[in-house]
This record gives sequence, structure tokens and C-alpha cells, in this order.
Amino acid sequence: MLYLRAAFPRERWTEPLPETAAFWLDMHAGFRAQQVQMAEAAARWRSGGLDPRGLHVALLPTLQAFLQHLDGHHRVESGHYFPHFRLIEPRIQTGLDLLDRDHDAIHAHLDALYHSAVAFHQAIAGQSADASDHAHRLTDVLDRAAPSLIRHLDDEEDIVIPLMVLKGDPTG
Ligand SMILES: [Fe+2]
Ligand SMILES: [Fe+2]
Repeated sequence: MLYLRAAFPRERWTEPLPETAAFWLDMHAGFRAQQVQMAEAAARWRSGGLDPRGLHVALLPTLQAFLQHLDGHHRVESGHYFPHFRLIEPRIQTGLDLLDRDHDAIHAHLDALYHSAVAFHQAIAGQSADASDHAHRLTDVLDRAAPSLIRHLDDEEDIVIPLMVLKGDPTG
């Protein structure tokens, strides 16, 4: 699956890229930055630097944006770009199958994050005594989601960026 990356290795990604490829990398950079920001909020909560209400302020707006954008991003990839890539580069079917499966697996994490975030939000809004338990649960779910999210961004880039460079911008 890495023949595309071998043909256009990451060291060369600083060269001017097709517009869609550059946009794709920007989107992924945004997801990585949000993930780091959320992990930092979780770490501050665990070290006692934030109380549950402070965690709510530091984490929930970013998490909400992250969930919405990532879900939309995956829909466009699986629904629009990947079918197009399958046609223009039949050799990469197994790679795209893997990325589609990643989307399903990550969707389960996003779902768990959403439900934990809602429970935490309701506990804060209701000034519930178990807000702290919900905060621990949410930050644990965040931890569990992180490795597959980050790995997927890397794996996907290894396939789609060289593919667009070698085969042309799919929107061009
Ligand atoms: Fe993806
Ligand atoms: Fe992506």
C-alpha cells in the first residue's frame, strides 16, 4: 500500500502540491491541533489544574467543533473522493478499503465521545455531584480515541497525497 508514498515521499511534500492535496493536509493539521489542545485540557484536569467546570470551558467547544468537522470530513472522503480514487488508481483498492474501515472504527470513537460529552455537559449544567466522574469518563474516552485518529491521518496522507500529485487534482 506504500508504493505511492515511495513514488512521492514525504520529504517532497514541501513542493507546491495540487490545491486539493494542500487543502487536505491543512484539514488534517487542524484535526491534529484540536487533538493536542484536547489532550492538554485532559492533562490539566488530571493534574488538578482544572476543576470540572474549568474542563468544560477548556474542552467542550473544541470537542464539539472537532466532532462536527471530522464527521463531515469522513463523509466527503468515503462518499466522494475514495470512489473517485478507486477509478483512477485501481491498484490502491486495498489501501482505500483500509481507510474506509478506519472511518467506521473512528466513527465508533466519535459516537462514544459525543455521548460522554453530553453526559458531562448535563452534569455541569445540572450542577450534579457526579460531574467529576463524567469528566474522568470523557477524558478516558478521549485517550482511547487518540491513537487510531492520529494513525489514520498519517496513513491516509501516505495514500492520498502522492495519489493526487501523481494522478492529478480530482477537482481539477
Ligand atoms: Fe479519513
Ligand atoms: Fe482525512
